[in-house]
Order: sequence, then structure tokens, then C-alpha cells
Amino acid sequence: MKLGMNTNSVTKVTVAKTLLPAGMNVLEGEFEVTEGGPDCDREYLLEMVAGSAALIADPTVPVDGEVLDAAGSELKVVANYAVGYDNIDLGACASRGVIVTNTPDVLTDATAELAVGLTFAAARRIPEFEGELRAGRWTGWDPGGYRGIELTGCTIGVLGMGRIGRRYAEIMSGVAGRILFWSRSGLPAVEQELGARQVGLHDLLAESDVVSIHVAASPENEGMIGSGEIAAMKPGSILVNTARGSLVVASAVAEALASGQLGGAGLDVFENEPEVPRVLLDAPGAVLTPHIGSATFRARDEMARLAARNVREVLSGRDPVTPVG
Ligand code: DGY
Repeated sequence: MKLGMNTNSVTKVTVAKTLLPAGMNVLEGEFEVTEGGPDCDREYLLEMVAGSAALIADPTVPVDGEVLDAAGSELKVVANYAVGYDNIDLGACASRGVIVTNTPDVLTDATAELAVGLTFAAARRIPEFEGELRAGRWTGWDPGGYRGIELTGCTIGVLGMGRIGRRYAEIMSGVAGRILFWSRSGLPAVEQELGARQVGLHDLLAESDVVSIHVAASPENEGMIGSGEIAAMKPGSILVNTARGSLVVASAVAEALASGQLGGAGLDVFENEPEVPRVLLDAPGAVLTPHIGSATFRARDEMARLAARNVREVLSGRDPVTPVG
């Protein structure tokens, strides 16, 4: 799809996959915008990106030296249509003088709300019990049947106290007895404002009834919740991940659900999306959603707008609105 051809010097903007109209409207008339579409593969991207001044990518699009070289020396900005940017090789961008931007803030509420939803859905096994009803296996009210975990007064453990972790903690403070958090940086202000306590990773795992992951994906954080960490958690506790699949070892989660070490898991992200490991699909107590943390009407529109504004600012010689780093 092409928009707004400038006759003399056309500035080309490539959208690796698709950009919602809220973002297209920002670029319309000023740039020649080409979208790869939802099925755009690597080969097509390498071809399509040639001569672009901006590339709008998303978490499904790896942007590395090869893509940057295929774009060529005109490329000024890679605008990621997401807050996470583990799909982008920052070093390769920096060495070519390409600015990287992301879409923070506008998806904070949406993602935190999904984490809250997964927390309750896993605690009460809502999808599984709904499945029983739909399958016609519900035989009536049963005092011992379909029981789950009550969260009022529980200890919530927040791994990573960035914007989304903080919003999750705020919402959960309505039911939690206490909130613990782990962060690599000291955050005394957060402790005061939220009445939350910063603790070491082991203490957080050992004391929390729910552990919700909100750290960024990085080589340092890869597999940070594996079998050892899950064994250190309270028996029957709940694990929630709305950050990135690579942070968690899926087979360890599946084993712990099967053994009862985990009482439930709410997972929105997977290491090799859209593949979901069979062991998780089969695991009892796993609530699985298709990477929808930011998928509200409002957040996705705002993300599109912000990604497009970042492109427009950089290509107009101004500072990006939300640069990475
Ligand atoms: C993000 O912004 O990083 C989300 O995962 C996209 O939904």
C-alpha cells in the first residue's frame, strides 16, 4: 500500500508488516509508505526495505545488520511498534547511526490489566472450568468441585518494577496482603509510594503466592525462571508472564504444573511465537493467551500513532518522542 507520493524526492517509509490507520494517518501525505502485510517474510522484507529512510518493525520482525544493510545508507530510524525491543540489534543500529524508538507508556495499562486477568484466571482456573461447562460435564453445584485459589490477603511478587510491573502492583494492591518486588536497581521511592518491599530474587520466590514477570528480555535475563527458581517458589503458587517467552523455561513450568508445585500459570508470551510448546498446551492449570498484552483498541491505536510520530520527528530532523536508550 502506498500513501502520499511526493513527486520530486520521495521519502520512503517501510512498515515491515502492518500499521493501524491511527499510525498511517500521521504519515499520510508526507511519505511514501509501503506495508509488507501480515505474511511478510524475511526475504520480502530485505527486498522491500531497500532505500527506506524509516523502518517500522514489531516484535515478530528481527532487525539486524542484514536488514539494515538491505535498507542502505538512507535509513535514519527503526521505530518498533512495541515497548520491548529484543527483536532489534541495538549495536548494529548504533554502528550505522540509525536511531531506535519504541512505544512505552501507551500500553502500560493494557498489559498490566492482562497480567491481572491472567492472575485471576489462573487462580480460579476459569478457562478450564468453563471448558467443563461447555463440554456438558458440569453436573451441578458441588461443594468440593472446581475449587481454586483465593487471592485476597495474598503476597504478590513482582519481578521487575518498570512501568508495567508498577501498574500491575498498583492494581493488585486492591486485594494483596503485601507486595514484594525484585529489581536490579534500588527503588526506595517505589517502596514508599506503593508500600511494596524490595527483596532479593530468592526471597521473592519463596514468599510469594503469585509471581508476575515484568522484566525486559535480554541475554542476562534469558531463562531466569527455570526449574531451580520454580522449586524455590511456594508450593501451589501462581506464575504469570506477560513480558517475553525467553524469560521462562517452558518445560519447567509444564512439569511444575503437572506435579502441583505450581497451582497455575498465566502465560501470554512464548519463546518461539507463534509456536506454543505441546507440554504447555497439555499442562493442567495453564492459561494461555496469544501475546495480547497490548491488544486493546486504545493501546494498539496509541502504539501505532507513537511509532509513526517517532518516524515523522526523526525524518523531519527533530528528536524522536520515545528513543530507546
Ligand atoms: C510490547 O510492546 O513489547 C508487547 O509485547 C507488544 O504487545
